[in-house]
Amino acid sequence: MKGELIYLPAEVRCDLLMDNYYRELMQEKLPAGLYRHSLGVAEAAVSLAGRFGADQKKAYLAGIVHDFGKCYSKSELRSKAEELDLQLDRITLLEPRLLHAPVGAALLQLELGIEDGDILRAVALHTTGHSDMNLLDKIIYLADCIEDGRRYPGVDRIRDLARRDLDGAVLAAVERTIYAVLRRGMLLHPQSVSLRNSLLEKQAGDQSARL
Ligand SMILES: [Fe+2]
Ligand SMILES: [Fe+2]
Repeated sequence: MKGELIYLPAEVRCDLLMDNYYRELMQEKLPAGLYRHSLGVAEAAVSLAGRFGADQKKAYLAGIVHDFGKCYSKSELRSKAEELDLQLDRITLLEPRLLHAPVGAALLQLELGIEDGDILRAVALHTTGHSDMNLLDKIIYLADCIEDGRRYPGVDRIRDLARRDLDGAVLAAVERTIYAVLRRGMLLHPQSVSLRNSLLEKQAGDQSARL
């Protein structure tokens, strides 16, 4: 593969080298299972980006690095958030499952020099979601839920929806997350509820426009 790179245009070569750089870095920093998950998310994100017209290069990179925050412990994430003066809400600070996303995005910029605002935003929102998600945000959120390594009841239905209806699949994914959070007695982030409501409102608007 390395020998073949010299025959590619400089721009493509540079992208491939950067992708390899971040992939190898994640392989080094993340436990094996989480690294495999990151590769799965990157692959699912590229495929969703191709299907729904997003930038596949950004989708790949965002997928590979989306769990960078998991390189750090809960207390490290909290102190990094404090050091960086990140304005995080109380629920995010109390719930490590959520905290790795916004702190991870800040650390990607600070420690790995990733400056692309679209990638950083998609990483920051990949756990809670948001009522105003753009295409790449939705793709990373969904790819995290449906990558090939994910096994949970209902995942095939979400994968099936993701083949034709991005918003429908994101809605099914956030509803599944909300159920799981309630079942486990964990804190539910209001942004997840807002995401669900905004998608339902949009769905209702689309239906009435068709009548
Ligand atoms: Fe994550
Ligand atoms: Fe993840």
